[in-house]
Amino acid sequence: MSERETWSTRAGFILAAVGSAVGLGNIWQFPFQAASNGGAAFVVVYLAAVLCIGFPAMLAEFVVGRSTERNPIDAFRELGGNSWSVVGALGVFAAFWILSFYSVVGGWVIRYILGSAQGAYFADPGGYFGAISSGPGALALHAVFMALVVGVVALGVEDGIEMGTKLMVPAIVVLLLGLGAWVATLDGAAAGYAYYLSPDLNTLADNIGSVLPAAVGQAFFTLSLGMGAMVTYASYLGDDDSLPVDGGLIVGLNTLVGLLAGLVVIPILATQVSVEAIRETSGAGAVFISLAEAFGQLPAGRVLGVVFFGVLLLAALSSAISLLEVVVSFVTRNTGWDRKPAAGVFGLAVFLLGIPTAFSASLTYAGTGALTWYNDLAYNLLLPISVLGVLVFVGWLRDDHATEELTKGTALGRDTAGTWIWAMRTVVIVAVVVTLFLGVQDLLVAAKVLADPVVAV
Ligand code: PHE
Repeated sequence: MSERETWSTRAGFILAAVGSAVGLGNIWQFPFQAASNGGAAFVVVYLAAVLCIGFPAMLAEFVVGRSTERNPIDAFRELGGNSWSVVGALGVFAAFWILSFYSVVGGWVIRYILGSAQGAYFADPGGYFGAISSGPGALALHAVFMALVVGVVALGVEDGIEMGTKLMVPAIVVLLLGLGAWVATLDGAAAGYAYYLSPDLNTLADNIGSVLPAAVGQAFFTLSLGMGAMVTYASYLGDDDSLPVDGGLIVGLNTLVGLLAGLVVIPILATQVSVEAIRETSGAGAVFISLAEAFGQLPAGRVLGVVFFGVLLLAALSSAISLLEVVVSFVTRNTGWDRKPAAGVFGLAVFLLGIPTAFSASLTYAGTGALTWYNDLAYNLLLPISVLGVLVFVGWLRDDHATEELTKGTALGRDTAGTWIWAMRTVVIVAVVVTLFLGVQDLLVAAKVLADPVVAV
């Protein structure tokens, strides 16, 4: 067998992981989750979830990946035997599943870059979105997006993913900073900042039962957890890097980009509509309809639109490649296939799985469109179960191994690492179980199996 690939530099690994983390979750979902869940109050809960739950879970995935140098399925098998490989398999399946609709949304983003340049959606943003978000056009752009992803992954870890993300991640940050500076000059931006930066604790207190799982789910999704992506990326990493330090950098950068996206999106909306109206906007339509509407009315809205959707495309691509890489790293090791055919064939399979979502993208939360179902199943069920599996495995079964792995390449003492593991096996697991419970309840309500939430939290 040929030698296993690795990152060429530590910065390459960090940028690739940040590229995976920074995606539609930060720029499309986060600002609107924040806007509709009480603005700054949601941000506070989300930050706590990222730090206390997301960060330990990321370290757990790193431990599994780096210590085995394997894809998620083989990594869990090596450390825990055949039955634990199920946890890895769940991650690989989640990656496959999520990429199938992530790519459809990526296709819309490509469409919106062109649409912004022509001002195509300015007259009727809602109608435009309805027209392009499903049907043959959406399918064609889903194919284009997947082709780009396959292209990068086919080039390999160093020449494809590392090179690609080295270009994409700095571009995302620079362009977002530029947009943020531009937005600050708009009349009326101040109301947006005020809403985003001053916590509305009443809204939070009234909705904590739904805000909490939303914040935790968002933390997992944005940190690319539960999908084998961080296991896979860490498996290309050498022993001289410190997992807690690298993980801290990745979590920190990802959070900054999310916050920055909020500083761009929410004030733009505030220039057009009242803060109350922002609170009402949520879901996918928010960026593609409300924000698009704002672009239609702002000076230089076409440029603003092209840059904004350009950033969104780079972010979506650098995330999508990590999802396909999870699948490809498993297939290349277990079938003897080369990377290029594996990327092509499995990219095609992901494309096929995404076809239903390209034809019925109902976007209201309670809608029954395929996209809503694909998304909610992933968010409320697959991700929390998969993360739970990782946490139980690392926190309870392989805690000594994890302690040792976490202290490699770092000044961190065994005691500190041990405290981490203790938190992982208790508080963090309880929080994920609660999230899973609330999430499943939401799903059952949406599926009309339950009339109303059984437990009012
Ligand atoms: N973290 C990405 C985002 O926020 C999504 C993603 C999840 C990417 C899992 C890869 C793996 O959009």
